[in-house]
Amino acid sequence: MNEKRTSIHGQWSGRLAFILAATGSAVGLGNIWKFPYIAGENGGGAFVLVYLICIALIGVPIMMAEILLGRRGRQNPVHTMATLAEEEGASKAWGLLGWMGVLAGFMILSYYSVVAGWALSYIFEAASGAFSNTDAKGVSAIFSDLTGSASSLMLWHTLFMFMTMIVVAQGVKSGLERAVKWLMPGLFVILVLLVGYAMAEGNFAQGIHFLFSPDFSKLSTDAILIAMGHAFFTLSLGMGAIMIYGSYLPENVSIARTTFMVALADTAVALLAGMAIFPIVFANGLEPGAGPGLVFQTLPIAFGQMPGGVIVGLLFFIMLSFAAWSSSISLIEPAVTWLVENKNLTRGRASILAGMVTWALGIGSALSFNLWGDYKLLDKTFFDLIDYLTANIMLPLGGLAIAIFTGWVMHRSSSRGELQMGESASFELWHFLVRFVAPFAVIIVFFSAIGLIK
Ligand code: TRP
Repeated sequence: MNEKRTSIHGQWSGRLAFILAATGSAVGLGNIWKFPYIAGENGGGAFVLVYLICIALIGVPIMMAEILLGRRGRQNPVHTMATLAEEEGASKAWGLLGWMGVLAGFMILSYYSVVAGWALSYIFEAASGAFSNTDAKGVSAIFSDLTGSASSLMLWHTLFMFMTMIVVAQGVKSGLERAVKWLMPGLFVILVLLVGYAMAEGNFAQGIHFLFSPDFSKLSTDAILIAMGHAFFTLSLGMGAIMIYGSYLPENVSIARTTFMVALADTAVALLAGMAIFPIVFANGLEPGAGPGLVFQTLPIAFGQMPGGVIVGLLFFIMLSFAAWSSSISLIEPAVTWLVENKNLTRGRASILAGMVTWALGIGSALSFNLWGDYKLLDKTFFDLIDYLTANIMLPLGGLAIAIFTGWVMHRSSSRGELQMGESASFELWHFLVRFVAPFAVIIVFFSAIGLIK
């Protein structure tokens, strides 16, 4: 009966379309904005190494698991999990996993949209020539002027949410496929160009040393949790986004191969971003641990100094905004499909409703850079708190549940059938990773970071 299940929302046109959409979801602010700044805050090399290990041993197997669940269930994450659990003779309570995903999607998008708003506003900064001939101080002033103004942040946040709602309302497949096909390679080319600039004009040796030579004395347990949480975040795992994308995947496409391509592209973009940014950090005597403003306070220096920098800067921020936008769509898609399937809303109405909830929640993040900057809980602003809660707690827990479900609840024959890998050694390897390595790694990192294992 599985063979006949189809998604009421349609299907991707093929393997390439899925790879593009999943890459569009994975590559985003997480790679270019978040990865460099958390690597900077957590001491560089050792953190990067842990992150890469987490991608390979936890991220890739769980991504395969999440896609296979989506394709088998072919509904919104809540129903997919409940249906599959029933089929495997387990409790329908697994549907709760889908619920947590919908909630995490709202929460992540609410602050993601605020940062995406920074990228939008920098399109106009770049076009106006604001970066030309400015030094590190000038560039940093542009950033603090922006984040210091509650009304500007609200304006850009609103605009970005509006853009997201328009695409989601129309259905993810049509526009997204075409946009991502051009924009992802474009972003890649610009990043390579920026790494070239960093090589010529930045302190490249020190930047590379910082990123790639591990100093384990700088690695705290919290840093390990952040690296692991980021592996989930950057691959869009643990909340049903990739599950939904998997539910539109045609039957005959290899899940393993597509997962590798997406993970590879995602990791390459993050590492390139780091290699472009840190040489500029060191050449200008900046702080690697400068926090969320890092990208916005470093790359504009390069745009201000390189020949043709206005154009390059403009293109960069346009593509960064597009990358954020193709990710944001996947954050809200689980909620929208749930509303359509359950509440009988049209796609348009469902998008508006979900968008408005996210927008409202985002106000808290927009204001935590200015008016509410002093309100802190556990030493974190609203923005920091919601990021920490989602990336480091909800996503790893969601991923853990996915691993336990596919590794322990689902019968081998079901997962093997869906992955279409036969009795191969690669299937055995995947099954071992998803059954033992990924869940135990998540549990150990998780509980040692929150202090339950010393
Ligand atoms: N992966 C995206 C990024 O790196 C963000 C994102 C999109 C995401 N969809 C997600 C994160 C689902 C977690 C879960 O920018």
